[in-house]
Amino acid sequence: MLGAGGFLGRHLVELLGPRALPVVRPSAQIPGGALAHDLREERGLRALLEDSGAHLVINCAALASPALCEEHRGAATALNAELPRALGGWSAESGARVIHVSTDLVFGASAAPAGGFLEEDAPDPVSFYGESKAEGEVALMERDPGALVVRLPLLYGDPKGTGRGASEALFSSLIRGERPSLFTDEWRCPLPVSVAASALAELADEQLSGVLHVAGAERVNRFELGLAIHLERFREHERARHELRACLRAELGLSPERPEDTSLCIRRAAALLDTKLPDLAEGVRLAAYPA
Ligand SMILES: NC(=O)c1ccc[n+]([C@@H]2O[C@H](COP(=O)([O-])OP(=O)(O)OC[C@H]3O[C@@H](n4cnc5c(N)ncnc54)[C@H](OP(=O)(O)O)[C@@H]3O)[C@@H](O)[C@H]2O)c1
Repeated sequence: MLGAGGFLGRHLVELLGPRALPVVRPSAQIPGGALAHDLREERGLRALLEDSGAHLVINCAALASPALCEEHRGAATALNAELPRALGGWSAESGARVIHVSTDLVFGASAAPAGGFLEEDAPDPVSFYGESKAEGEVALMERDPGALVVRLPLLYGDPKGTGRGASEALFSSLIRGERPSLFTDEWRCPLPVSVAASALAELADEQLSGVLHVAGAERVNRFELGLAIHLERFREHERARHELRACLRAELGLSPERPEDTSLCIRRAAALLDTKLPDLAEGVRLAAYPA
C-alpha cells in the first residue's frame, strides 16, 4: 500500500491489518514494519513492487494539498501523474491490480449537475492539483485498463496524528483562538475518512475496473459541514454560533482556483458496496472525535 503514513493511508492500513505491506517515504515514522521509498523517484519502484510479490497495489500516495501543488509543481506531477503512470506500466506487464485514489477536484471548472458528476463525465479541473490528478487517472488507465480509479470527496475525521483532514483544520483553527469563516457557497459530498478506507478495503476484494465515485450521500456546503462537526464534538448550539462564521467566498477575496461544486454521483458505488455511504448527520456520528 503506497502512502501508508497519510491521512487516508493510516486508516486503510489499520483495516487491512497483516494483509497490507505499507510503503512510506524514507523520512516517515509509522509504527510496525514498512518499506521505505521516495515515490517521486521512478527508479527503484519497479524493483520494490516486484520484490514485494504484491498482487494488488492500493495507491494513497499523493501531493494532496492544492496549495502545495501550486507551489511544488514538479513534485505534484511526479506523485500525482507520473507515479500512477508507472504503476499502470507495471500492472499491465505483471498482471497485478492497481486501485488508485483520486479526487472530486478533477472536476470544478463548471458546477456539478443536479445529482452530481457521473463517473463518465469529462474531468475539467481548475487547480494544478486537479490537473495533475486528472493526468494521473488517464496515464494509469491508458496503460492498464484493468485498473480501478476511486474518486473521493473532501474527507474528515480522525487525523491519526497527521494533522490532516477537514475536521482537524476546523479544530486547529479553534485552538488557535480563531473564528473560522466557512463558505455557504462551496459544495461537496464529504465523507468520513474511515468510511473511505472501509470502501477501499472492500474494493480490494473485488475485480472492478474503470472509475468509481465514493462519497457522502449528501451535498452540503462548507458551513453546514463545519457546523455539524462542531455540534457533534461540543454539542453546544450557542457555542457553535459564536465560534463559527458563515460567509460567502467573495467576502474573503479568494483566488478563483476553488471549484464551487464538485459533488459526485454515488449511485454506482451505493449499489456495489456493502460499506454504507452516509449522509452528513450519520457521517459526523461515525467520525466522532474522542472528547
Ligand atoms: N484528504 C482529502 O480530503 C482527500 C479528498 C479527496 C481525495 N483525496 C486523495 O486521497 C489520497 C490520500 O490523500 P490524504 O489526504 O491521505 O493525503 P496525505 O495525508 O497527504 O497522504 C499522502 C501520502 O503520500 C505520501 N507521500 C507524499 N510524498 C511522498 C514521497 N515523495 N514518497 C513517498 N510517499 C510520499 C505521504 O507521506 P508522508 O505521510 O510522509 O507525508 C502520505 O503518506 C490522495 O490521492 C488524495 O488525492 C484526499
